[in-house]
Amino acid sequence: MDIRIELTQNPKAKPTDESKLGFGRIFSDHMFLMNYTDGIGWHDPRIVPYGPFMLDPACMVLHYAQEVFEGMKAYRTADGTIQLFRPYENARRFAASCERLCVPQMDEDMFVEGITKLVEIDQDWVPYSPETSLYLRPFVFATDEHLGVHASKTYQYAVIAAPSGCYYPEGINPVRIYVESRDVRAVRGGTGYTKCGGNYAASIRAGQIAEDRGYTQVLWLDGVEQKYIEEVGSMNVMFKINGKIITPALTGSVLPGITRMSCLELLRNWGYEVEERLLSAEELFDAAESGALEEAWGTGTAAVVSPIGEMAWDERSCIVNEGKIGPTVQKLYDTITGIQWGKLEDTMDWILKVTK
Ligand code: COI
Repeated sequence: MDIRIELTQNPKAKPTDESKLGFGRIFSDHMFLMNYTDGIGWHDPRIVPYGPFMLDPACMVLHYAQEVFEGMKAYRTADGTIQLFRPYENARRFAASCERLCVPQMDEDMFVEGITKLVEIDQDWVPYSPETSLYLRPFVFATDEHLGVHASKTYQYAVIAAPSGCYYPEGINPVRIYVESRDVRAVRGGTGYTKCGGNYAASIRAGQIAEDRGYTQVLWLDGVEQKYIEEVGSMNVMFKINGKIITPALTGSVLPGITRMSCLELLRNWGYEVEERLLSAEELFDAAESGALEEAWGTGTAAVVSPIGEMAWDERSCIVNEGKIGPTVQKLYDTITGIQWGKLEDTMDWILKVTK
């Protein structure tokens, strides 16, 4: 791609205390932009100073939510190399989400090149402290100024970058999860397997109620029978029951997580028996009550690998592994983050180096 570059004349001050970064609150100096016009295709790739969009009030995304996004991170290793984790997997999932939302797809190399160039330019924004990274948010939205319900003919694509610490205030400490029995996040035939903003909009009410009750996140049940465990809004979930790893199958309403895929590959390599299948809340809570549930955790780009210490479902609740981090979660966390931060050899060929 021939990317036009306009560097900022007013660089922002970088955060001095990296222990207070939080998640997705501070943004780097630049953003990558590209536009789509029917009949022309993707055009005008550019890196420009970070700043607001000007949108017409009739802009389609504001009314019908034709929008898709991704989440990935750039990591700084001990020798100063900046690297990405499996960016082509994000490119593939982005394309699959776009296909479902009728957003024109872009070439995988184009997706990765735009991100790589932005990270290269804003490399000083990749934080240095342990457990930190530059969170990258590629997204695309419909920009036609028209209130008819159709696919837009024009789109804005952008990538922004946020130096971030842990997603949860708990860090790697176990989180409390609330099984939602009223609202559903996604239905069969819907958009559950995509990363579109609408899925997250549907999740906010239950998330708010869970937080008010002192839980970190909602664990969603399937949208048809409200019986089977699907995912937590910002993570996929895995359970160790009687030595076996069980994770909800990708039925179409569950997000195909890249950290999920990576954990499953590692667990299988380590000799664990892994089952991707329907798992009812009843089976899960029965396993917890009988002592068969050994560990529970979530996986996601933002959350990485996050132990679940407590779960509540209607009148039932359980503490998992005495509320402590279990050995399988710890090993997964150490391995995934070890590869991401360059502390472990990349034997799986998951890393793309941006610098050096
Ligand atoms: C991610 O893990 O990157 C996500 O997109 C989850 C989230 C913060 C919505």
